[in-house]
Amino acid sequence: MAERVEIVEVGPRDGLQNEARIIPTADKIALVDRLSACGFARIEVTSFVNPKRVPQMADAAQVLAAIARAPAIRYAALAPNLRGFEAAREAGAGEVAVFASASEGFSRANIGCSIAESMERFAPIMEAAEAAGLPVRGYVSCVTHCPYDGKVAPEAVADVAMWLLDMGCFEISLGETLGQALPKDTGAMLDAVLARAPAEKLAGHFHDTSGRALDNVGVCLDRGLRVFDASIGGLGGCPFAPGAAGNVATEALALMLAERGFETGLDHRRIAQAAAYARGLGA
Ligand code: HMG
Ligand code: MG
Repeated sequence: MAERVEIVEVGPRDGLQNEARIIPTADKIALVDRLSACGFARIEVTSFVNPKRVPQMADAAQVLAAIARAPAIRYAALAPNLRGFEAAREAGAGEVAVFASASEGFSRANIGCSIAESMERFAPIMEAAEAAGLPVRGYVSCVTHCPYDGKVAPEAVADVAMWLLDMGCFEISLGETLGQALPKDTGAMLDAVLARAPAEKLAGHFHDTSGRALDNVGVCLDRGLRVFDASIGGLGGCPFAPGAAGNVATEALALMLAERGFETGLDHRRIAQAAAYARGLGA
């Protein structure tokens, strides 16, 4: 039987958060509903952050309230602090994600605090999530390059990943925020993280600015990672990482994995239809 690889669909959040045009709430809901028919186990829908900083995510609660939920799918939301967590829980998120950075410059630009301070903000989220029975995913951004601090040391990534795992995150998504990593950079970073955490706890999250995201996924596959984030239609980027392009496109990643003989459980025809719809939103 083919080995399974999970694609976590992050397009409605990571994809749309960076679109200059404010996308109508109804279109976001329609996108998530299309994605719900594709076979994903998890869809990252939105984020509960300061709407002045990320206006595109201001309708987080409305989107989560109106999507047609498939029982088998976990609908996730980003939460940077306890306030965001409570809002995500009230809106019915089935999973939340906290997001830290391996570099101080990006931590400050993205969430307005140092790495150590971000961990202090996440601690009460972990406690509340445990009480609510909600799984928490942890992101580490800038795992190879930072737009403010330059190259990032692999050990710094491992430190933050372990910090999040020790806090209780069930999975760490390693974010190559800028899309500049060469496969050798990704390999060195993974070697440092895998020396301290098992591959089963790790996910790859590659932006595709330099067109190397699929190569970097390949490096992760070779080292045993089996969960990857992707964005339908290749939409997006991060508002606090200037010039960075969207995540690796879901449709391209799904094809690459199929070619390599992995089973994703995804319906390629429906993925292609959702990708066409997503690209229309970004136009
Ligand atoms: P702060 O930086 O300490 O202070 O906030 P601030 O001045 O930015 O925000 C304070 C204001 O935010 C106050 O409102 C608060 O009420 C409000 P004001 O008095 O100015 O009107 N506020 C909130 N509003 C809604 N929901 C909340 C919330 N908390 C405070 N939960 C904060 C810290 C994190 C909130 C802020 O910096 C922020 O929202 N940053 C946006 C971060 C973000 O969404 N980044 C993009 C996602 S991360 C990413 O894309 C990377 C990833 O994809 C992986 C990768 O690729 O590397 C995950
Ligand atoms: Mg990202």
